Amino acid sequence: MKVATVVGARPQFIKAAVFSNALTAALVEEVLVHTGQHYDANMSEVFFRELGLAEPRYNLGVGSGSHGHQTGAMLSGLEDVLRLEKPDVTVVFGDTNSTLAGALASAKLHIPVAHVEAGLRSFNRKMPEEINRILTDHASTLLFAPTLTAVGNLRAEGLSERTHLVGDVMYDAAIYAATRAKWPPEGMLQLPRSSSPFVVATLHREENTDSPHAIRVVMTALREISRLVPVVCPLHPRTRERLGDLASYPGITFLDPLSFLEMSSLVLHSSVVVTDSGGLQKEAFFHRKPCVTLRSETEWVELVQSGWNRLVDPRSVPDIVETVVAALGGSWSLNGLVPPPFGDGHACEAVVRILCEQLA
Ligand code: UD1
Repeated sequence: MKVATVVGARPQFIKAAVFSNALTAALVEEVLVHTGQHYDANMSEVFFRELGLAEPRYNLGVGSGSHGHQTGAMLSGLEDVLRLEKPDVTVVFGDTNSTLAGALASAKLHIPVAHVEAGLRSFNRKMPEEINRILTDHASTLLFAPTLTAVGNLRAEGLSERTHLVGDVMYDAAIYAATRAKWPPEGMLQLPRSSSPFVVATLHREENTDSPHAIRVVMTALREISRLVPVVCPLHPRTRERLGDLASYPGITFLDPLSFLEMSSLVLHSSVVVTDSGGLQKEAFFHRKPCVTLRSETEWVELVQSGWNRLVDPRSVPDIVETVVAALGGSWSLNGLVPPPFGDGHACEAVVRILCEQLA
């Protein structure tokens, strides 16, 4: 069997690395295709190097742009690659524009599509990721759901027959990281000592960064928090571009985008995670850190139900500050999730086994 794996944005490089290992172990041929959605060395190459992911056979070099331009350029490049390579299946991860382009290009060529992380829904169609998830699921042949909630969402959309519950590939990756992440990450001596409390904060979503008002509210809250406890903030290039003068936040340590192991180490040694990322909400849970999510809804509802994750209105400085202070004070009641809802850490092997059973 020949598998084409389509990646483009940094979380996908992490997932592809663990997935590639499972393909190699099963002696399955893989053609790795990078759309070029993320292209800076610290948004792309570093993940390949650190996680031992092979050089992509194709890099379409699509780069940044509006949703239509970016997705359109990917579609056209992917169609050429898939025509040439004729894989038995195209595998896509998550909910980015690269995910949608991979699914659509493949489905139109009648090549089966396998969607890993299928069935997640925020029920907020203003998020570009929500549109990508829904369309990708409906264009796919095999749907690999990470949680029972995702299985239920797919059932509600009439997609049960294509659905397999396999667990979460990011849990596989988090287990890998937990044993390898060093403190402090190399060259980062400016970080707090591991024994002292600190908050790690990330912000990159369009809805929180594209309007000057939205980003100002979140940054004002982080500045207030940094008066109580150090805040470490790795910056996505989109956020960096919009932030302007970093000197107005003296209590915040800003960092360039981090590698997976560096970021995992930061989470492992932090006291509280504050984020608008989907992936980091789960990584916080995997490393048992309370997470304050700067969004009004989340796809990962289990985390909220368990008490490990609280959603806050990203437009309210007092809400953000009070929730983080409560998390730092240890006043959250945290329930262990039993059984863990994200699988057994072998989601990638399950995906490969099912691909081989159904398509080889
Ligand atoms: C994308 C995904 C988002 C995912 C995130 C992971 C979509 C719609 N969004 O968001 O779901 O959570 O990746 O990180 O696919 N930029 C650079 N260098 C890079 C990449 C981006 O400077 O290597 C800047 C550009 O100004 C670009 C902006 O970041 O316009 C946004 O990049 P883009 O890939 O469009 O979206 P992300 O916010 O990264």
